[in-house]
Amino acid sequence: MARKAQSSKTFPIYVLNGPNLNLLGTREPEVYGHATLADIEKAVKARAKTHGLTVTFRQSNHEGELVDWIQEARTTGCGVILNAGAYTHTSVALLDACRAVNHPLIEVHLSNPYKREPYRRRSFIAEAADALICGLGANGYLLAVDALVALLKEEKE
Ligand code: DQA
Repeated sequence: MARKAQSSKTFPIYVLNGPNLNLLGTREPEVYGHATLADIEKAVKARAKTHGLTVTFRQSNHEGELVDWIQEARTTGCGVILNAGAYTHTSVALLDACRAVNHPLIEVHLSNPYKREPYRRRSFIAEAADALICGLGANGYLLAVDALVALLKEEKE
């Protein structure tokens, strides 16, 4: 089904982060790197600005709050970049919310879950995502911004 692009000049990209990502920088830096979530937010906003876009950047440890924000992005966002943390591997509720989003949605992970424990190899989000970027650390968020812009351009054409 063709999607109708919501103007990216008016509506922000939602960059949503799940549980424990508030601890980035101090949490298992050998796995997740040294950048803090505040560092990533700054870099993501700067990258989006080069495309003339704005960003709503949030983090929550609570599944329901993430569901609310994904729903919010349906009406007040132009696209979603989602690192659902551990909820990636468990949450049908997040999958259902993502399925209801009618904009491009990109799943991001700092680490490469497919190289890690078997229970991280299942992603519920992937079933609703247009693309998946993982294993590239904080840079993955910036690549996701560029990729989202490309998807938004495709929709306009
Ligand atoms: C993560 C990978 C998940 O498996 C893990 O639970 C996280 C972070 C990542 O960004 O690599 O919390 O989403």
